[in-house]
Amino acid sequence: MTKQTKLGGNFTLPGTSMNLHRMGYGAMQLAGPGVWGPPRDVNAAVVVLREAIAAGVNHIDTSDFYGPHVTNQIIKQALHPYPDGLVVVTKVGARRGQDKSWLHALSRRELIDGVHNNLRNLGVDRLDVVNLRVGGMMEPSEGSIEEPLTALAELKKQGLIRHIGLSNVTPRQFAEGQRITEIVCVQNFYNVAQRKDDAFIDALAQQGIAYVPFFPLGGFSPLQSSTLDRVAASIQATPMQVALAWLLQRSPNILLIPGTSSVKHLRENLAAAAFELPSDAIAELNAIGTGAAAGQFTQ
Ligand SMILES: NC(=O)c1ccc[n+]([C@@H]2O[C@H](COP(=O)([O-])OP(=O)(O)OC[C@H]3O[C@@H](n4cnc5c(N)ncnc54)[C@H](OP(=O)(O)O)[C@@H]3O)[C@@H](O)[C@H]2O)c1
Repeated sequence: MTKQTKLGGNFTLPGTSMNLHRMGYGAMQLAGPGVWGPPRDVNAAVVVLREAIAAGVNHIDTSDFYGPHVTNQIIKQALHPYPDGLVVVTKVGARRGQDKSWLHALSRRELIDGVHNNLRNLGVDRLDVVNLRVGGMMEPSEGSIEEPLTALAELKKQGLIRHIGLSNVTPRQFAEGQRITEIVCVQNFYNVAQRKDDAFIDALAQQGIAYVPFFPLGGFSPLQSSTLDRVAASIQATPMQVALAWLLQRSPNILLIPGTSSVKHLRENLAAAAFELPSDAIAELNAIGTGAAAGQFTQ
């Protein structure tokens, strides 16, 4: 079955006028291998971004520590001056070591520098949404986020940021964050095989807060599952399209930012928003991350 809504329908970030299509684009894959340095073909990266905008995408996720700087510079090259309605969501809280490692950058100074790097490399006076990224590479770790979030909220008061989100956080950290400033979105690791945030997503949906899963397709090790293959074959879709369609049907507050460096994959991913998964397929897919079929999954 297919749906007629464009790019998965819309979601308005709470307390804002930012009305996003639920199918967006994640720009991390546009940097070179290992998210380091320039890609082999910068023009090809520019084409991917322009194709996304031409298809109606109005939500792009990025960071200045992709490359570092490279991904934002390519976004600026491809899309500046930015079309009306485009929301570029970036993140601060990390930096890259010379050995390409991912390090925390959560001091006040580092957050200020992070925001200014984003402003400069994206070529804007104010960032639409900035996620404060804490925790580890894949998972959050408990601990107060008061200090870095207070520093980011100050930058918002200064007019450098429109809205704030959180990334790699636990429900407790989110609740602490809401006591400090308005939070419009949460970006955590979640997909059909990685279901740790199930209850968190439902709680955020109740409050109208967007949940934006990173690694929706499995990230550096794309999802592989015989269940995905079987469902895909039954509806003439690809396994990746099924993984994205499952996320869109999982909860109305989920916004997608699948990453790709290829126009072919971009088109395929955007087209996933049109698939309506039947309830028996949803039940089969639910089993991937919740037990019964988990053994069939490799990531
Ligand atoms: N907050 C955080 O800590 C955090 C962490 C990681 C990522 N992110 C954000 O989340 C976004 C999405 O994550 P991601 O790009 O790492 O992972 P992803 O979207 O789960 O998967 C990307 C991988 O899947 C491949 N792919 C994409 N579409 C495909 C298709 N239709 N068929 C087959 N393969 C396909 C890509 O390769 P090709 O390039 O060959 O298509 C790439 O290897 C990023 O762009 C970034 O903005 C945030």
